Amino acid sequence: MSFRILGTGSALPARSVTNDELSGFLDTSDDWISTRTGIRSRRLCTTETLDELAALAAREALAAAGVAASELDLVVCSTTTADHIMPGEACAVAEALGASCPCLDVSAACAGFVFGLDVADGWFARGRARRVLVVSAEKMSRVLDWSDRASCVLFGDGAAAAVLGEGKGLLSLRLESRPDAETINIPGLAGTSPFDETERPASTFSMDGRRVFKFAVNAIVDGVRQTCADAHVEPQDIDHFVFHQANERILGAAVQRLGIEDARVARTLAETGNLSSACIPLALDRLVRAGSIEDGQLVALVGYGGGLSVGSCLLRWGSGT
Ligand code: UT7
Repeated sequence: MSFRILGTGSALPARSVTNDELSGFLDTSDDWISTRTGIRSRRLCTTETLDELAALAAREALAAAGVAASELDLVVCSTTTADHIMPGEACAVAEALGASCPCLDVSAACAGFVFGLDVADGWFARGRARRVLVVSAEKMSRVLDWSDRASCVLFGDGAAAAVLGEGKGLLSLRLESRPDAETINIPGLAGTSPFDETERPASTFSMDGRRVFKFAVNAIVDGVRQTCADAHVEPQDIDHFVFHQANERILGAAVQRLGIEDARVARTLAETGNLSSACIPLALDRLVRAGSIEDGQLVALVGYGGGLSVGSCLLRWGSGT
């Protein structure tokens, strides 16, 4: 027995920041950002904490699922930008919800939600869980170098969640990592040890954008093809594609190479930017709340990013049996 998704939820900060606002302090323009990425604005935290956003998204997902926090057997949180290094973000969410089950964080950057689903799948398979909350929460604004126009314009903050119950909704899932600490990197805390003689750069995000671009298109194409092959379905049979939202041109290139219908590819990028691991559950939540996904339909998820890691899976929606 594996799982099915019982309910989803999401939460974004109130403040929307346009490309024009960024061009007020960076050598950039709305034209460059929107043409090269498809992003027009992003939501950035002002007074909201990540703990608050994650808990809001989780509460929405629990309400949609009709599950009480006390019924949760596991909380998994994917994040690379938590409010605290210890305890894990999942513990903070559980505390806010009043849940008292095991809590753990997954650090797989933009592929984190699918990695979280895989952890949950193991708990269902071993009979350890009947209800699992997977929440992805990212405050990218805290790790960006706001003087680097090549990266800070790409990201936003937000959280999204899914509550899982026993079911047969998971048809196939693949995880892949190609270890590479240079292409996308956020150095850890420097600390204040009087014995530490290493050089520690600032804890800000850096990326080789062109390299990631090529990796991203291949990751989506291979992820869809492999999970389809594992489940014996064709990409053309899939009703909804929920890919990580990094760049409209990446989505367009993947659509072209897969030969799939563009309208089946979820898009949130224009108004949220790249939310790292929260992109996929946010796009999924939007589809669910719009009533776009029908029971029995096939939904493909592919996340890719820092690691470099890729997580892809194929779901049959509503599959309780
Ligand atoms: O979730 C993690 C995954 N991240 C991604 O998937 C990102 C993947 N990469 C990309 O989306 C694209 O590579 C970027 C959007 C990051 C960059 O687009 P690009 O078309 O690859 O541009 P580029 O890096 O080749 O830069 C072209 C020019 C450069 O100027 P020169 O050297 O040609 O004079 C950059 O300095 O654009 C310049 N540039 C900018 N200009 C205005 C870079 N950023 C900006 C900016 N505004 N914000």
